[in-house]
Amino acid sequence: MYSRPILWPLLCVLSGAASASPPCDAALHPHCGWEAGEAAPGGSTTHTSTGDQMLFSRPAANLPQERQLDFQLGNALFRRLWASAPASTQAADGLGPLYNARACFSCHHNDGRGRPPASPEESSNSLFLRLSIPPRSPEERAALASGRLAVIPEPTYGTQLQELAVQGQPSEGRLRVSYQEIAVTLADGTVIALRQPTYTIDQLGYGPLDEALLTSPRLAPQLPGLGLLEAIPEADLLARADPADADGDGISGRPNWVWSPARQAVALGRFGWKAGSSSVDEQSQAAFVNDIGISTPLQPQASGDCSLHQPICLAAPNGNSPQFEHLEAPRQVTDLVALYTRSLALPARPTADQPQVLAGKRLFHSAGCAACHTPHHRTGQQPAAPELSNQLIWPYTDLLLHDLGEGLADHRPEGEANGREWRTPPLWGIGRTEQVNGNTFYLHDGRARSLLEAILWHDGEAAAARAAVVAMPAAEREALLRFLGSL
Ligand code: HEC
Ligand code: HEC
Repeated sequence: MYSRPILWPLLCVLSGAASASPPCDAALHPHCGWEAGEAAPGGSTTHTSTGDQMLFSRPAANLPQERQLDFQLGNALFRRLWASAPASTQAADGLGPLYNARACFSCHHNDGRGRPPASPEESSNSLFLRLSIPPRSPEERAALASGRLAVIPEPTYGTQLQELAVQGQPSEGRLRVSYQEIAVTLADGTVIALRQPTYTIDQLGYGPLDEALLTSPRLAPQLPGLGLLEAIPEADLLARADPADADGDGISGRPNWVWSPARQAVALGRFGWKAGSSSVDEQSQAAFVNDIGISTPLQPQASGDCSLHQPICLAAPNGNSPQFEHLEAPRQVTDLVALYTRSLALPARPTADQPQVLAGKRLFHSAGCAACHTPHHRTGQQPAAPELSNQLIWPYTDLLLHDLGEGLADHRPEGEANGREWRTPPLWGIGRTEQVNGNTFYLHDGRARSLLEAILWHDGEAAAARAAVVAMPAAEREALLRFLGSL
């Protein structure tokens, strides 16, 4: 059973707010008032630390004492800079040969999100390109249909463009991003500039790319609360799916079914911008192999994302060692990293009950945002993680796929997600981006520089919600943004 978190009275004192009297009439609108528990978005895992950049780096407040040390060990591994093999410390070698970054932390800076390059000359790092091609043979079509493969890799370059390589190896190429400004005029005359990105790849290291190449830019997302998202019962998420839009509200919502290497079966996708991964552990192990070039129990290939057409890369020395299960990162390492990633907690929302925030929350609901950004869920029983079990959580996501229109489309299917669909990202913590990262870049490729820009990119199933925001008088728009900023 959920009990009101003990920290709530403390927060009221801290924020100096009177929580008892929400400013609008809850009888007129069910969502206009303050709701019990919403100031603690992660339920009892929520922490109350404030004021520094490490707001997303705290463990679940209720993490049992005996697992705190594992969390710290996981943290160290998350920050570890991997070195190329052979190195004097075998425990930390095996980088690459091809890679995007040397540590998890390089992309998930302060456990927050990445940023796109500031200029076409700067290398991207925490923004990379996924690669694939459309299926060509009956076998490839069958592999996609069965769910065993989510994409057909680009024949030479694999599933991801690695911009870096260890010494003596060519890197795959350079990703360049340029932007064109598009002006959007809101109903009250305010003009907002959006940036439309263009991605190009140059300095190709292994010959031409397939002419049918499909690409998808991905920015490293923020990480707090993932263990809680993993703990939402599958049936609750599926109950919200409406693939054929049977209720006629213009919003469908489809699950992505993806191959789970751990279960050796198709499973519900929850993680990644297209819900391409079904668990925190699988997503983390995929990051080890593709982003850093480190082999793991589920992804044992020592040469990462090297393909058969990159023989020099396949032949490079690797860090697989007998004392580490013939891997570069053995089970003990991936378990600690998964525990760390799963246990990162959300900060409390001290301003949740302020009148302008509550007014913004009402507008969030009336504009239709909550149709995809589902405010709350209750986690199920997690035998291995009692701290994550049975919590009332406020992630503002349904974890389902939605068509957000042509402007955001990548035209690159992944599993059952088509080229216009994205998974609704959680909005919890989003108001803390500036504090944690020192910058604000939103959406799957970081093109939006503000929350308002992110909203204005919504289209497709979210066209009506976007239109509602465009039509808002300035004061209402500010309230909506205040609400998002309070999350
Ligand atoms: C080169 C940059 C980069 C590195 C290094 C990196 N990540 Fe990521 N991470 C990303 C991107 C981009 C995504 C989104 C992937 C997608 O859409 O499929 C992501 C997604 C994730 C997610 C899912 C988050 C969500 O909300 O769905 C987890 C968990 C994660 N990474 C953990 C890790 C761990 C653990 C490591 C180190 C082993 C790591 N990452 C290294 C860029 C990176
Ligand atoms: C039809 C479903 C849907 C509706 C309705 C919707 N969203 Fe979204 N939202 C999404 C999806 C999917 C994305 C990810 C798109 C992308 O990254 O390209 C997203 C992204 C966002 C982001 C950026 C998140 C991040 O981590 O970068 C914000 C902020 C946001 N939405 C706010 C809103 C607000 C406010 C409304 C109402 C005005 C709204 N959304 C309505 C589905 C929806």
